[in-house]
Amino acid sequence: MPKVFLTGANRGIGLGFAKVYLEAGWRVIAAVRNPEAADDLKNLGADYDNLLSIHPLDLADLTSIDALAKELRGVTIDVLLGNAAKTDNPMDEFGSTNYDAWVEAFQVNCMGQMKLAEAFVGHVAGSDHKKMFFVSSRIGARPPAGLVLFRSSKSALNQVVMQLSLTLGPRGIAVACGHPGFVKSKSTLSMGVFEAEESAGYLKKIIDDLTVETAGQFFDPDGSVLPIVTRQMNPNAFGAKAPDAWDEQAKKRDDGES
Ligand SMILES: NC(=O)c1ccc[n+]([C@@H]2O[C@H](COP(=O)([O-])OP(=O)(O)OC[C@H]3O[C@@H](n4cnc5c(N)ncnc54)[C@H](OP(=O)(O)O)[C@@H]3O)[C@@H](O)[C@H]2O)c1
Repeated sequence: MPKVFLTGANRGIGLGFAKVYLEAGWRVIAAVRNPEAADDLKNLGADYDNLLSIHPLDLADLTSIDALAKELRGVTIDVLLGNAAKTDNPMDEFGSTNYDAWVEAFQVNCMGQMKLAEAFVGHVAGSDHKKMFFVSSRIGARPPAGLVLFRSSKSALNQVVMQLSLTLGPRGIAVACGHPGFVKSKSTLSMGVFEAEESAGYLKKIIDDLTVETAGQFFDPDGSVLPIVTRQMNPNAFGAKAPDAWDEQAKKRDDGES
C-alpha cells in the first residue's frame, strides 16, 4: 500500500489532501503542529481504519523535522507532500516591515521544506514511487504586487524545488511543485474558486503523473506548466512592463553596453 507523508494535514488544502489520499486507499502519515487539536483530521481518519497516523511537526523548528524523520526510520514514503505554509503573514507596510514574521515565513515556507527533503530523502528513496511535491503559489512567480513576505518565501521555495529536482533526479526521485488554485481555506478567508478537496484532487493527479523526466517544474492545477521566471508569464498582469525593461537591460549587458 503506497504511503504519503503530508504536512499541514489538519485543515485547508492539507485536510483535502488527506481525504483524497485516504479515499484512494493510500496510507497517510499526517504531520501537524498540534495533533491534540487536529479534530477534523481525527474524525476523517475514523472513517478509514488504520490508514491514518498523526505526528507532531513544527516546520519552524528544524530539530522537530529531524526528530520525526528519526521516529519514522524504516518507514518508506512514496510521496513526500510539503503542503504546510505560514500563510498568516502581515500585510506589507513599507517602513514597518515585520522582519520577525518574514524570517518565520522563510523558515516555514522555504528552509523547512528543504529540511524535509534532507531529513526524509532516505524514506523516499526506499519507496516504490519516489516523489516529493511542494505546494507553492503562483504569487511566488508573478510580477510583484504586494504580499512581499509570503511572495518572496514562495519564490525561494520554487528555486529550492528546482535545485532539489536536479540533485535528487539522479537518485530516481522526482521533485516538483505546484499552485493549488484559489482555494477556500482559512488563508483566503474562505474565499476562493475551488474547495480544498477539489484542489487536492487536481494536484494528486499531477503527482500521480510525475516522473523524473517531467520533474523540476511548477504546475498549475490543470497540469499545465508555469514558468518560474516571472517575465515569461501573464503579459497582462500588473507590473508586466517591468520585465521588458529588464530584458532590454539584460540585452545591453550581454552586448557589453553597461
Ligand atoms: N488557499 C489558496 O488559495 C492558496 C493559494 C496559493 C497557495 N496556497 C498554498 O497551499 C498550501 C495550503 O494552504 P491553505 O490555504 O490550506 O492554508 P491554511 O488553511 O492557512 O493552512 C496552513 C497549514 O499550514 C500549517 N502550518 C503553518 N505553520 C506551520 C508550521 N510552522 N509547522 C507546521 N505546519 C504549519 C497550518 O497548521 P496550524 O493549523 O497549526 O496553523 C495549516 O495546517 C500552502 O502552502 C499555501 O501557501 C494556497
